[in-house]
Amino acid sequence: MKIAFFEVEDWEEEYLKKKLNGHVLKFSNEKLSLENAPQIKDFDAVSVFIYSKIDEQIIREIPNLKLITTRSTGFDHIDIEKCKKQGITICNVPSYGENTVAEHTFALILSLSRHMCKACIRRFEQDFSIEGLEGFDLKGKTIGVIGTGQIGLHVIRIAKGFGMNVVAYDVRQNKLLSEVLGFEYATLEDLLARSDVITLHVPYMKATHHLMNKDTFKLVKRGAILINTARGSIVDTEALIEALDNKILAGAGLDVFEGEEVIKEEKQLLYDPKNLEVLNNLVKDHILLSKDNVVFTPHIAFYSKEALERILETTVENVVAFVSGKPQNVV
Ligand code: NAI
Repeated sequence: MKIAFFEVEDWEEEYLKKKLNGHVLKFSNEKLSLENAPQIKDFDAVSVFIYSKIDEQIIREIPNLKLITTRSTGFDHIDIEKCKKQGITICNVPSYGENTVAEHTFALILSLSRHMCKACIRRFEQDFSIEGLEGFDLKGKTIGVIGTGQIGLHVIRIAKGFGMNVVAYDVRQNKLLSEVLGFEYATLEDLLARSDVITLHVPYMKATHHLMNKDTFKLVKRGAILINTARGSIVDTEALIEALDNKILAGAGLDVFEGEEVIKEEKQLLYDPKNLEVLNNLVKDHILLSKDNVVFTPHIAFYSKEALERILETTVENVVAFVSGKPQNVV
């Protein structure tokens, strides 16, 4: 097979060359785009990370495409309907880092509960005062976990270790696990009203677009903190800014936010007047990120050495399974 890998680092290239010996491989550290798609016109498979948006136009550029294997759990960057129509198989990496993302979730929670970022910045200003750095205990507090899949369940396990009470909301409930792990399911409204920490672990799709919006923020317990390691567009940025300004939320810990994919390339946007909506979102993002009660990491919840190795292992397995006629991890 001819397989093109995008968004790969050098060490990943070395690993893939060894493991997929016998295939024609092409590597690029760029994302797959309309500009570089013509270079892989005759390729059978592509492997991408989440910044390559695979839409109808890109699919048209690669007419032989049979397999897309994304090196991520989320697959909202791929036009699934179009792929279905074209008979393109999409595989993902369903689990590689539930512990990795869950650990990062707690890194964000603790950054807010113990003012870690504020305290670190003060050091650089030779400010050793403790004013404004009083934190709060997690023990005895209630955490509301929205989405009890692989990551959500691991968050629950860690939360239990901290002595937190856990309420959860999911469209599919796992009663057995709720008994074993000692948490209770609630409605979304009830969860928002009771939780001191709200953490999002649902996939991004139509049903979860702006799940946290002006109306749902009204239901949030005053002084709660919100953590988002899932996808940016699950939270309406404008409503989030308002909730922070109105002190409904005491803080937010964000590994993802709306428009994160363009913020890295914002300079280019300035020169294109078509991008008014994107620029509007960017302005909101900058307002959000300038707040001192917002802790931000640049979509790195998955980014640990061990998780990256597991992602590559599964990606290789996905390719091998597809070639053998028994595709696995098909989304
Ligand atoms: P999962 O598929 O195991 O769990 C998702 C859960 O959400 C399921 O239990 C499902 O029933 C529930 N759900 C789906 N739609 C819902 C709705 N409308 N309302 C309530 N619950 C709903 O997924 P997993 O592995 O736990 O990952 C969750 C998300 O985390 C991924 O979709 C991905 O977007 C994000 N993620 C972020 C990473 C990062 O680096 N920041 C890394 C990996 C995943």
